[in-house]
Amino acid sequence: MKPRTSVRRQLRRGLAVAGGVLPALAAGGCAWDVPQSTVIARSDFARAILDVYAIITWATIGIAAVVFAALGWVLLRYRGRPGAPMPAQVRGHTLLEISWTIAPALVLLVIAVPTIQVVFRTQQATAERGALEVVVRGWQWWWEFRYPALDIVTANELHLPAGRPVLLRLEGPDVIHSFWVPRLGGKRDVVPGRINHISLTADTPGEYPGQCAEFCGTSHANMGMRVIVHAPDAFDRWVAAQQAPLPEPQGEAAEGRTIYASQACVGCHTIRGVSAGVLGPDLTRFGARKTIAAGMLPSTPENLTAWLMDPQAIKPAAKMPALGLTEAQARAISAYLLSLR
Ligand code: CUA
Repeated sequence: MKPRTSVRRQLRRGLAVAGGVLPALAAGGCAWDVPQSTVIARSDFARAILDVYAIITWATIGIAAVVFAALGWVLLRYRGRPGAPMPAQVRGHTLLEISWTIAPALVLLVIAVPTIQVVFRTQQATAERGALEVVVRGWQWWWEFRYPALDIVTANELHLPAGRPVLLRLEGPDVIHSFWVPRLGGKRDVVPGRINHISLTADTPGEYPGQCAEFCGTSHANMGMRVIVHAPDAFDRWVAAQQAPLPEPQGEAAEGRTIYASQACVGCHTIRGVSAGVLGPDLTRFGARKTIAAGMLPSTPENLTAWLMDPQAIKPAAKMPALGLTEAQARAISAYLLSLR
């Protein structure tokens, strides 16, 4: 049997290693400049949240400094010394008790006032003058974006103009989801039977990935989206392209349209002039999107054909059923959908 001191020494060494290595490993997973970074703000909403973070960070640094200084002083001043008498014992110190009740209340006030201001400012239901209104619907497991004033409906890819106020109306047709595009601002729940709002102005053109941030079923993790912020003239071009008449499909794509129109696809999907389903994503301009299955895969003929033949193999529990298409049928529909740009 080992002597007890050696066991204790090993234990202490193990704790020191764990205390040093585990935080280092955890911190190694952190990065500043990741696509879904909350510390890189690209809208007024995201910036307002960063400002609140800064207030909280400085408040906690101040509290830590006071607590550690007091702790250090007590440890040194009252350390055990041979022959030292018992320090004076304090009980029921009114001034101390009032102070440590008021101090945290003041700290909470400093944090709460700006936080509540940001919450209220960014969830107003009335649009600013000139704001672009978009209805956001969270579905299991994809995102619908409707632009009522522009008569545009799209899915999983939200296009916004830089420098113009935007009002997002969040609707939940099935279960609770949470809309979150970290670089553009905080999460907000999408709740059935209730309309939540986000008002923001994106300031920098670019692509910002987002993610459903509330567990909403089997494929919650596969409920991604991309927000594409355009310079104002590029946004106008995107709108014009969305509103332009659809091209007449040719060759395999024309054959694909015939198959699409004769299958159950039409019961769930809208393609203007062809079908008017409302349960699945609007496919009118499907070919203009860069990804399929709510951001899971790049939009290529191969990926789309595989998706059409067996959606659940790609996205577990996807609501779209496998329709028993042959590979040739799936390829033709895929050619048709990709021609819709
Ligand atoms: Cu939708 Cu999680």
